[in-house]
Amino acid sequence: MTQENKLPKHVTIIMDGNGRWAKQRGKERIDGHKEGVESVRACCELAVELGIQYLSVFAFSEENWGRPQDEIEGLWKIMLKAITAETPTFMKNNVRFRVIGNFSRLSKSLVKEIDDCMALTAGNTGTSLVVMLSYSGKWDIVQALNKFMSKHPGEQITEETVGSYLSTADIPDPDLLIRTSGEQRISNYMLWQTAYTEYYFTDVLWPDFRKTQFRQALDAYSKRERRYGKV
Ligand code: IPE
Ligand code: IPE
Ligand code: MG
Repeated sequence: MTQENKLPKHVTIIMDGNGRWAKQRGKERIDGHKEGVESVRACCELAVELGIQYLSVFAFSEENWGRPQDEIEGLWKIMLKAITAETPTFMKNNVRFRVIGNFSRLSKSLVKEIDDCMALTAGNTGTSLVVMLSYSGKWDIVQALNKFMSKHPGEQITEETVGSYLSTADIPDPDLLIRTSGEQRISNYMLWQTAYTEYYFTDVLWPDFRKTQFRQALDAYSKRERRYGKV
């Protein structure tokens, strides 16, 4: 089978290693996060070029709220700036921008910028770039169950209903999950949605993960045989 035949519909990335990248260069952690934005831009560009339908990226976990306040505030500044700067490119490239996560903890100004960009790009039909922000897999499952139970009190829950109440309900489950920086764990990311996802771990730190590295991951994926429990 050619690689085109096995192009994943949905690639998700746990973008890890910004802090270590900065430390290696005698820089501040925040400089690693800034450089990481360039990697998101490059990967999104390749997703557009190849026609990958969904690229989701784990940008901030619920657990990341436990980081120092100045790092957290620095991250929001970087995100705000990046969204503003990238919006014209999203429009040019037919990219639909989405953010998924627990918005209740985000600042009003960031939520407004996010909402504006999501509304503006809502009609775009190319690649969807989905930023998972203040997200965690357990949070998602719990909010799904609560929403279901308040709408259908006393009813039995099925696998389909759980899936349809998750924050990612209208997005296919990831075919490929990439994690950078050598860590081989899921860190409370999409727990339900990755039941049959292919995993790809690389030692490359996120700011160094660009088109070449993304292509290598896609190439590795194209050689995988997915069996879903069958023979
Ligand atoms: C990933 O890089 C970005 C976020 C979690 C926001 P890290 O900041 O976790 O970088 P390391 O793991 O400390 O190198
Ligand atoms: C996972 O990275 C979260 C994101 C990439 C946003 P972490 O750096 O927070 O994960 P752990 O703490 O090493 O598991
Ligand atoms: Mg990390």
